[in-house]
Amino acid sequence: LRDETLAALAQAEDHTAWDAIRVGTLGKSGRLTRLLKELGRMSPEERKARGQALNQLRDELNVAVEARGQEIAAAALDARLKTERVDVTMPASLAPCGLLHPIMRTIDEMTAIFAAMGFSVAEGPDIETQWHNFSALNTPDHHPARTEHDTFYLPPQNEGAPERVLRTQTSGVQIRTMLTQEPPIRIIAPGRTYRADHDATHSPMFHQCEGLVVEKGVTLGHLKGCLIEFLRVFFDKPDLPVRFRASYFPFTEPSMEVDIGWSRQTGVVGGGEDWLEVLGAGMTHPRVLANCGLDPAEWQGFAFGMGIERLTMLKHGIPDLRSFYESDLRWLRHYGFSP
Ligand code: PHE
Repeated sequence: LRDETLAALAQAEDHTAWDAIRVGTLGKSGRLTRLLKELGRMSPEERKARGQALNQLRDELNVAVEARGQEIAAAALDARLKTERVDVTMPASLAPCGLLHPIMRTIDEMTAIFAAMGFSVAEGPDIETQWHNFSALNTPDHHPARTEHDTFYLPPQNEGAPERVLRTQTSGVQIRTMLTQEPPIRIIAPGRTYRADHDATHSPMFHQCEGLVVEKGVTLGHLKGCLIEFLRVFFDKPDLPVRFRASYFPFTEPSMEVDIGWSRQTGVVGGGEDWLEVLGAGMTHPRVLANCGLDPAEWQGFAFGMGIERLTMLKHGIPDLRSFYESDLRWLRHYGFSP
């Protein structure tokens, strides 16, 4: 039994063969275990002599089995190390990556275009005081623009605190900027705006991008040049027709609306006979400058505001305003941009 077991162990090449020998010899009903069990049926003298021999054999085989087991395990590990390799230069499998929402993308593009013209980005709060959103912008109480905007009013925080609204336009950032920055000023202010209006072409929350320039000797010509340049770069159409139409805003004088050429039939920007309004603009009203502590005899300015959704829909042929806010993954994958 001893020689047979040792020979078999020497020949065992893997864990399975080794384990079969271990169990077949030393296991519960292994050959040696059975011999040891037979001791119980022997006379005391026989048992003594044979028991000693069998116990010795069991110790010897235990050591041999254990040693061979370790050899086999070491050899298996060696073989694995030789054949299994991790190529650390292989490209990793990429985790799914989010996309930029088209609104974010448009804001980034606007920021880049105006940055090239020397503008920086300013911000203001979504919850705005009525003074910043209306009064300082030359829109007094009971002015029709206040009701036209379908304003969301908020209760005052405590007695005597300023009356608050969800800002109906980003124009309040003009006021905040003039109050905190020394001119010359060139800022744009993209952000959320709110009006209590909801249908296929209006959303109670939408985005605007405001612009403000305050410098000495700024004219309507600067305003027109700046906006024509912006629109042609934004739509990537050097010949895009742009038209300025007289209009009214309380905080600019003169005021105008800006149209671009497009085709009503195909929705294509640049082509066709039709005009589409994309911007409000004008020369900063002297009263607005004065409300911010600037002398209108010394400083001139112009301002503009545009709807970000509208421009994004035109640029990418997005048909429905509501789809911007539905978070439909298929829509986001289709219109989203890789960052
Ligand atoms: N705030 C105006 C609007 O919401 C747009 C505008 C901004 C017009 C700046 C003129 C100057 O319609």
